[in-house]
Amino acid sequence: MDQLVIEGGHPLKGTIRISGAKNAALPILAATLLTGGTFRLRNIPKLLDIDTFIELLTDLGSRVRYNSDNGSDLCIDSSDLSDHEAPYKLVRRMRASILVLGPLIARLGRARVSLPGGCAIGARPIDFHLKGLELMGVNLQLKEGYVEARTRGLTGARIYFDIPSVTGTENLMMAGVLARGTSVLVNAAREPEVVTLGQMLSHMGAKIRGLGSSTIEIEGVKELRPVDWEIIPDRIEAGTYMMAPGAAGGRLIIKDVITGHLEAVISKLRSTGLQIDTDKTSISIKNRGTLRSVDVKTLPYPGFPTDLQAQIMVLMSLASGLSVITETIFENRFMHVAELRRLGADIRIEGRNAIIKGVRRLNGAPVMATDLRASASLVLAGLAARGTTTISGVHHLDRGYECMEQKLAAVNAKITREKRV
Ligand code: EPZ
Repeated sequence: MDQLVIEGGHPLKGTIRISGAKNAALPILAATLLTGGTFRLRNIPKLLDIDTFIELLTDLGSRVRYNSDNGSDLCIDSSDLSDHEAPYKLVRRMRASILVLGPLIARLGRARVSLPGGCAIGARPIDFHLKGLELMGVNLQLKEGYVEARTRGLTGARIYFDIPSVTGTENLMMAGVLARGTSVLVNAAREPEVVTLGQMLSHMGAKIRGLGSSTIEIEGVKELRPVDWEIIPDRIEAGTYMMAPGAAGGRLIIKDVITGHLEAVISKLRSTGLQIDTDKTSISIKNRGTLRSVDVKTLPYPGFPTDLQAQIMVLMSLASGLSVITETIFENRFMHVAELRRLGADIRIEGRNAIIKGVRRLNGAPVMATDLRASASLVLAGLAARGTTTISGVHHLDRGYECMEQKLAAVNAKITREKRV
């Protein structure tokens, strides 16, 4: 397993360009199963999770190829699907594989998808997905760790989410677009990744109202057509790099973002004392000295994103007082705390709350990444720490951050990847 080696204490300076959003690209890749013909998807990020999803689509019979002249455009043709199964070996590697469930049932009337199983940050159940599909007329059997789904035809239904689930909303929206009649998703997720999926589905001929609100109405249509589509910038990648000057000092300009997707993050980081100036597609961040401690509570969009909780914890570890970070979305998303403590952070966990007492500095040490966003927080901590930090388990990082060490090295970070056999 590769590891990253970081020599901390070098203030950052320069510009980082943001890649396409992983969590927008994954449901959009799934949506190509809804109809035959060729989709052209632009700004696809080069990530392990994307590779895994392409493997899954290929196994189902889609023809997938990268556009030769630039490596980030993808052509996908799902005219001739030959299978309806998402196997455990792929779903275990990436739980977002569950996103093929809705499209396969809508297109083929059947699907066999492995239950995703838990992951480092929580049990991650899919009961909302399954309950919604049953309300739409799908017969579900759970057998040998797989969901076996069949329907003689989807019918629109009114579906209430106990919690606004992102992939739950996406799966049921993709099932609803070809259902007979109208579906209403109540307490639906409002994330930009849900909105852009809905916009692409509408471009394909679907009839959807209420995108970005907590009530989404989908009037089923008979058929859809393939489209060209551009993946939106990754707001979580952008938010991660916005925090880097807070950890390492200096200033960065983050380009190719949609600033409107980062309001909660910009507001919170300004409260810490970071100087942040924005225009529609770029954000500049300058560290003006000691950070102020602030409290953070993760919430569904437009609240502060849970996917940036580990990262802002690094900043609070270096701030001038006491802060409380409350994780309301996942039940076990503090795996990074033990590793940050190894670097000298003063953090105590009480249930869903992490109480952080700022320290003067962090000190480099060997640490282990446990999940995607925890690994990003360890990189930020390594940039801040005095001395050398080695991070193992960087395959977690490669799932969701394109060329992270290259992007950081280009703005004066001292970071290299050591290949391990
Ligand atoms: C999506 O996961 C993202 N993944 C996650 O990003 C992100 O952390 C999460 O949304 C929250 O924003 C993708 O979009 C591929 P949820 P998802 O369903 O859809 C509970 C990353 O780092 N729940 O919105 O799986 C669930 O346990 C990843 O890129 C049920 O109880 O999250 C959680 O407590 C990590 N039953 C809450 O809802 C269900 O059927 C929100 O989960 C579904 C969810």
